[in-house]
Amino acid sequence: MDKLLILGGSPLKGEVTISGAKNAALPIMASTLLAQGIHTLKRIPKLKDVSTMAELIKKMGGIVEFNELCKINTLKINKFEAPYELVKTMRASILVLGPLVARFGKAKVSLPGGCAIGARPVNLHINGLEKMGAKISLQEGYIIAKASRLIGAKIYFDIPTVTGTENLMMAATLAKGTTIIENAAKEPEIVDLANYLILMGAKIQGAGTSIIKIEGVDDLNPPQEYEIIPDRIETGTFMAIAGACRGDIILKGCRIDHVDAIILKMKDAGISFKETKNGIRVIGPKRLQAVDIKTMPYPGFPTDMQAQFMAMMTVANGTSVIKETIFENRFMHVAELRRMGADITVEGNTATVRGVKKLKGAPVMATDLRASASLVIAGLIAEEETLIDRIYHLDRGYEELDKKLIQLGARIKRIK
Ligand code: EPZ
Repeated sequence: MDKLLILGGSPLKGEVTISGAKNAALPIMASTLLAQGIHTLKRIPKLKDVSTMAELIKKMGGIVEFNELCKINTLKINKFEAPYELVKTMRASILVLGPLVARFGKAKVSLPGGCAIGARPVNLHINGLEKMGAKISLQEGYIIAKASRLIGAKIYFDIPTVTGTENLMMAATLAKGTTIIENAAKEPEIVDLANYLILMGAKIQGAGTSIIKIEGVDDLNPPQEYEIIPDRIETGTFMAIAGACRGDIILKGCRIDHVDAIILKMKDAGISFKETKNGIRVIGPKRLQAVDIKTMPYPGFPTDMQAQFMAMMTVANGTSVIKETIFENRFMHVAELRRMGADITVEGNTATVRGVKKLKGAPVMATDLRASASLVIAGLIAEEETLIDRIYHLDRGYEELDKKLIQLGARIKRIK
């Protein structure tokens, strides 16, 4: 199991290019199951989760190649199953359910287990497919779905679920009739998926708003080459790194319009921003000001940035109150940050962070993807050595983060 050894305390300077968005790559790769032929995708990040999705498509008979471009050939899809051993390593595998039922009329997808940050149920995905006429049963931990042809339906989400919106939007593209999804999630990754589906021939209106209307068509075809959006959470993570380390970092290839809430909160904390021709320059202050945050569905402050923001706040001037409203157990990083001298108390879904002057290096353990990013930030703040264990969590969602940090002057080493 790889570890990361970080000797923090140095301000980071330089340029970094933001990779393609993990949470756009995964649904768009799953959507290739809807259209027979060869799909060509650009800016697909080299991540563990992406190779897991590629594994899944290959197991179904698809061919997936990564060079400069990611080519996915779905001409010979002949299996309609997502096995537990793959789904348990990546919950987003649930995203093949909608496309398989829509295109092939059947699917056997393992129920994704929970994960460190919460139970992560998929009831809204299943209820939506049943509303569209799918017959669904749960057998030995698998979702068995059947439908001769899905029928358009009106679906309301109690919670604006991101992958639920993506799953049902994909399923509706080949249904008979019109589907309306109400209280849909509005994340930019949903808009990116809709744009790709529309290029395939799907009829979709309203992606990015809370009401999405999809008119079913009879078939879809792979479009020309498509470049996915940059990763807004990687963008926010590097902003937190600049803020935490008195850094001066130029982020290239990011989409500023996708990170409004993050930038506003970071400005309140004393971080300054200067737009450049194809990105943004981020300058961290001598000392950060404490700022309260509350995670909300997009366009609110993203839950995927909560752990990174908390790491920044551990050395801010004042007290920051952090409310996590999306997941029930997304404070696993608190115990590890405390080991480094952070002063944090947790009451239910609220963490109170009293800024301290310094963090101390310590051996810590990553527990989930974004918690591992927060430990990297804390390690860059502490002036001694920090050793982070189980960084396979980090590799699931960040493309070569340690290499990018070394380019910025960080003293960081990956230990096999
Ligand atoms: C997506 O997960 C992201 N993953 C997550 O990013 C992100 O944290 C999350 O959205 C929230 O923004 C991908 O896009 C691959 P949800 P998802 O369904 O779709 C409840 C990362 O770090 N819910 O929007 O699984 C659920 O329990 C990952 O990159 C139901 O109750 O999240 C949660 O409390 C972590 N029933 C809330 O909704 C359902 O059927 C939001 O979950 C579905 C969800």
